[in-house]
Amino acid sequence: MQAKLLQWYEEYGRHELPWRNTKDIYKIYLSEIMLQQTQVNRVRDEYYPQFLAKFPTLKALSLAKEEEVIAAWSGLGYYSRARNLHATAKLCPNELPKSYEELVKLPGIGSYTASAICAFGYHQNIVVLDTNIKRVIKRYYALLNPNEKSLNHAASKILNDKDPRAHNLALMDLGSMLCTPKNPECSLCPLHQTCQGKEEPQLYTQTKKKQYEAMDLFYGVYIRDAKIALTQTEGRMYKGMLSLPEIDPIEDHFITSFKHAYTKYRLTVKLYTLQEEPPNTTWVSLSDLKNAPLSSLVTKAIASLPSSYI
Ligand code: ADE
Repeated sequence: MQAKLLQWYEEYGRHELPWRNTKDIYKIYLSEIMLQQTQVNRVRDEYYPQFLAKFPTLKALSLAKEEEVIAAWSGLGYYSRARNLHATAKLCPNELPKSYEELVKLPGIGSYTASAICAFGYHQNIVVLDTNIKRVIKRYYALLNPNEKSLNHAASKILNDKDPRAHNLALMDLGSMLCTPKNPECSLCPLHQTCQGKEEPQLYTQTKKKQYEAMDLFYGVYIRDAKIALTQTEGRMYKGMLSLPEIDPIEDHFITSFKHAYTKYRLTVKLYTLQEEPPNTTWVSLSDLKNAPLSSLVTKAIASLPSSYI
């Protein structure tokens, strides 16, 4: 079974992904953090090369200012990932530790990321469990609602100690290419013969329905001399970034509104003209917005303003 899996990976695996073609642990670590909530293609084509161009080493990242790191993360969302990445670089500016136990102690490195760094970076014999691999393991062993411990135990039974890196990457690709949540392609699967879940693969993918929360946000727009008034955010969302000022709305001053999804929130964002300068303003030139630490939400808000505003 292990040999079939590796053969399949050799032939069909996503070998061209840049973080699979480097030995640089920092680059592998960065890719894992970016890939947590962002699609592979967007990370590969946009965010990963752009971030590495700005911060090519752990050392360079450790010497950067937090605003610069957040600005480089613009558009990726979940900005605590950028703050944790920066904090980890400051704690270990020369190299990341080599053991799972040391890695999980670092900010933003959880069980998955620590094991991914150990397996993909250091070629250690360790189980990696991301959502794709978990689904493969649940189906292969026909496990209904297993906890982390039993998943880990099951995955360790098939772990290939001769090439744990390729083994884990193969399971990951199998999960994303064939053993998909809907309509898995069992007939093409290298594990088909010994898979215990192949009769009813959909039994092992039932997940809890996501709960969304609707929320309205009201922002003020104040532009003078080709500069826009922004404020430092402090709340739970978007901490440390620049935002439009939150206001109590006056309906007569309404400009426009749009919908935006952010983590569990389904936001309706409404923009209003401000008559006077808001408190605690940071002025940003309209021509320099691309270098400011702005969330996708704020970028979208500014882009939604009618041209008469800008
Ligand atoms: N290769 C290594 N880690 C990966 C990940 N998290 N997603 C996709 N491909 C990867």
